[in-house]
Amino acid sequence: MLSGVHVAVLGETEHLPEDLCRAFTGVVSVRHIRIRPREAVTIGKATVAIIDADKVASFTPEDIADLVQNQINPVRPFIFVGDTKSRAPLAANNLLRFGSFVFRPFLTTSLLDLVQFLSGQPRAEDPSTSGEARPAWVVDEHALAMSAGERALGALFSFAKGQSPLKQPDLIKAGDLLIGSLAEGGLNSWVRGVRQHHDRTYQHCLLVAGLAVGFGLKLQFRESDLLLVAKGALLHDLGKARVPLEILDKPGALTEVESAMMRKHPVYGEEALRLESGIEPELLRVVRSHHEFLDGSGYPDGLLGERIDDLVRLTTIADIVAALIEQRPYKAALSGEAAFDVLAGMHGKVDIAIAKALAPLGRLI
Ligand SMILES: [Fe+2]
Ligand SMILES: [Fe+2]
Repeated sequence: MLSGVHVAVLGETEHLPEDLCRAFTGVVSVRHIRIRPREAVTIGKATVAIIDADKVASFTPEDIADLVQNQINPVRPFIFVGDTKSRAPLAANNLLRFGSFVFRPFLTTSLLDLVQFLSGQPRAEDPSTSGEARPAWVVDEHALAMSAGERALGALFSFAKGQSPLKQPDLIKAGDLLIGSLAEGGLNSWVRGVRQHHDRTYQHCLLVAGLAVGFGLKLQFRESDLLLVAKGALLHDLGKARVPLEILDKPGALTEVESAMMRKHPVYGEEALRLESGIEPELLRVVRSHHEFLDGSGYPDGLLGERIDDLVRLTTIADIVAALIEQRPYKAALSGEAAFDVLAGMHGKVDIAIAKALAPLGRLI
């Protein structure tokens, strides 16, 4: 049991939802509280309150605002748990600035980490004195997602070098957090944040991951597909762990030999992952085929379009946009809009329908 952590779960249903029951029973002290619109709530000693956003069907946004602002917010931190459909109206009504949001289906470890983190945070100030400022305990979702992404990449690269086993939960957790932090339209600040990263390969992988998830959200991918997008993008350049640093970080253009070495990274990455159990075949394809072009001019297999699936196409587009907007010692960074212009000229090579649908995002990055 986590000592000193007490969770109150609020919803209109009789019983604690099954996934929350599984996550908390035997780990933290948990109390289920049945709530009704416009009725006062007694939360007791809970250190964190959780509102089951999927189980407040008869609450209007105003009712939720009242619950959050007048009954919970001055008392303790809270988390909304729900699916992507629940998040949109909460975001539209600006309610998410008061708390964090965890997507269903969630990873138990991610939820418990957040609950534990919030339990240790100072209580919010009296709202009458804090004005519009965000309460101190509101988690910076981007910072959480970025550090989870860095941790996952560190583990992935050391796995690819044969130094440690693959930690799939880390990858899933990073993917989860990434989706959560971008779902409110945070593409711009993600891109700005990533640009501060000191390691070029990490910076690139985090950028591709943020772009791919932002693109998947724009194309209204299902939650399960979004997680595949996030994981695939974090993994896509895994094979670079086996390419010498002098080539990866070379300030100028590569020689023919160096470039041949560099072009092996998709195969190295797939080789490293292929023997692992539980890796989705779609992810192996992203890693191996993200440099393929629809006209067969890509590498390593020269695949033609019909053999390149949507997840790979999306990752390829995110990879190209990332490379164009990245600053390199030998080239200036393009703006997001200019990057999409370049993409629009890549007829026959990339999926132009996808590129067109995403072009409006160009001014956000
Ligand atoms: Fe690559
Ligand atoms: Fe890449």
